[in-house]
This record gives sequence, C-alpha cells and structure tokens, in this order.
Amino acid sequence: MSTRYPALIDTFGRVASDLRISLTDRCQLRCTYCMPAEGLAWIPRPELLGDDEIVRLGRIFVESGVASVRLTGGEPTIYPGLPEVIGRLSALSPRPEISLTTNGIALARTAPALVTAGLDRINVSLDTLVRSRFAALTRRDRLADVLDGLATAQAAGLAPIKINSVLNRDVNLDEVPELLAWALEQGYQLRFIEHMPLDADHSWSRDDMVTAEEMLELVQAHFEVRPLGHGGAHGQAPAEEFEVLDGPGAADWASRPGRLGIIASVTRPFCRECDRLRLTADGQLRTCLFAQQETDLRGPLRAGAGDDELAAIIRTAVRGKQAGHEINSLDFVQPARSMSAIGG
Ligand code: 5AD
Ligand code: SF4
Repeated sequence: MSTRYPALIDTFGRVASDLRISLTDRCQLRCTYCMPAEGLAWIPRPELLGDDEIVRLGRIFVESGVASVRLTGGEPTIYPGLPEVIGRLSALSPRPEISLTTNGIALARTAPALVTAGLDRINVSLDTLVRSRFAALTRRDRLADVLDGLATAQAAGLAPIKINSVLNRDVNLDEVPELLAWALEQGYQLRFIEHMPLDADHSWSRDDMVTAEEMLELVQAHFEVRPLGHGGAHGQAPAEEFEVLDGPGAADWASRPGRLGIIASVTRPFCRECDRLRLTADGQLRTCLFAQQETDLRGPLRAGAGDDELAAIIRTAVRGKQAGHEINSLDFVQPARSMSAIGG
C-alpha cells in the first residue's frame, strides 16, 4: 500500500519502519541498571505528550511508512490512556503492528483490555526467577506480580510472549539454564541481552559485561541449539535466533518448537540494519538509542504545525540518522538520558 508521505530514508539507505513510543519515563520498579533507588527527576507533566498528540504523531509516522509501533516507558502501563492509544493506533491505515515492552507487573489487571484494544505482542522484562534477587535487582518485591501478569497475558491470547533478560555477572549469570528451561516450559521466547551503557548512574563497565559469546557458551553447556540467523517480522530483528533442540526438562516442551534469542547490542551492533526510531514521552524524536541529538516534535506540534510540516521535520531528522553507536570506539559518549527516559 502506498503511503501519504515518502518513506523515511537516511543517507546510508536505511528505511525507518519501526517506531518506539515512550509513553512515560516513570516506573514502579527501580532496576539497579536503569534507575537510582530514589528514582529520577521525572519529566514535568506539562511536557509529556497526551493521547491526541501521541496518536497524531503516530499517524504521521505510519503515513510515512512505519509498519510497527512499540509502546514503551519507563513503564507504559502507568500511562492512563494506554488502551485508548492502542485502540486509536490500531485503527490507523495501514494498520501498524502494535507491541508493548513492559515490566509485567500490571498485566494481570490490564492484559485482557489491552488485547481487546488491539495489542498484538508483548515483551516482558524479567531477569531472575528468584524472589530475593528480583527484590534486590528491582528494589521492589514484585516477582509474583510479574509471573501472574505473564500468565494473564498468555491466557488473553498474546503470543509469542518474549521475555527480555539482561544478564549481569554478579546477579543472574548462574540462572541462564533455569531461565531458559522455565521459558521453554511456559512457551515464552527468552532473549538474553547484553548490558548497554545506558545506566542513569553511568556505572556500566565493559569488563563486567556478559558478552553474547559467553551467553551462548553457557546455554550450550546445557542445551542443544541450532542457529536460525536474525529473525523477526521484518528480517531485521537484532536478536540472533536459535532453535532449542534438547536440554533439561526437554520432555515437557519438546513437542513445541523452543526459541531463544541473543541480543549482542554491544559486541555485534546491528546499526547497519537498524530500522528504528524513538519518540520520547516529551515528544523528542531520537534516531538512535545513543544519539546525542534529538529533534523536537512537541514544540512545532503545539505551535500549530500542519501534518505536512511535521512529516517534513521527521523526514529531515531521519535523513541525518547517524551511522551507528560508537560504543566500541574511544570517542563514545553515553547519552544524557537513561533507558527509562529514552524508551526501550
Ligand atoms: N542495557 C540493556 N538493556 C536494558 N534495559 C534497560 N536498561 C538496559 C541496559 N542498560 C532493558 C530492560 C527492558 C528493555 C526495555 O531494556 O530490561 O527489557
Ligand atoms: Fe522500570 Fe524497566 Fe527501568 Fe526496570 S529497566 S526500572 S522495569 S523502566
């Protein structure tokens, strides 16, 4: 289907087709790798986009060729208008695929309504299955809520449910086999993620980081896996996908195809295939997670800019998308915003 506006293409020939919209920078959890215990200085409410603004910008992106919209945070289920926004985005033409990245703790309450509104898929962040570790890592004793939320989401028909686990040497590295066996048993697709330098307290260290190579070695010590290459709806997903053929507890899940993803954002960056854009909760367009620059869309939007003008601002910003992050270069500078304020 042809779209109203020209495709969003950068000078490296990449076409942007995936938009992540952060609905809020707030979160109920305080994951140590994301936020300090006291939280962050939240974006002042008047600066946050509202339902109409989010849907209007979303529509202009969709009319510029964006085919999938992921709603993120902070924690997007905190956003009061979440079902309305999902419903209105799913009414756009062409209809984008709509997914949600969530910490899962509100899903037991919200998942059915979100599915009814038009939500297609979810990714749930969960790094450990040990209650005390979860409480230490997120500084909140809410593991049971996440597990309840996952069960409700599955019963509501969301599939496949993806679980994102950031591996940390001192926290959950020894849980690799348990996490994978559990996910396979439940029918969830687990993805191990390399820890990226996006911490609010700038405490990331390359030496501590668990690399994708090490993750795979740990998996292969217990499971037989077959590489499937880079999968995903658009063939450009950052995860290296594996089929799990055998392993502990195999009898329970051998009849279903088991999948594992490993996301090597640091050691094997996927910048050359990156089709992503990010809209922050305060209406700033980021063409890269690690960009030092943002393009203000809220200002023109509130000053009365028309659709064509907004589409042109977006197109110009995407054109200037940087080649990639420089995590592996000496010149790397961590962005001022942390993950919760950018939107995963
Ligand atoms: N590195 C890698 N992943 C991170 N996340 C949050 N902070 C980081 C980081 N510094 C993950 C969360 C969530 C997703 C949005 O990003 O665990 O799954
Ligand atoms: Fe919340 Fe996600 Fe940050 Fe954890 S990583 S504090 S769940 S925004």
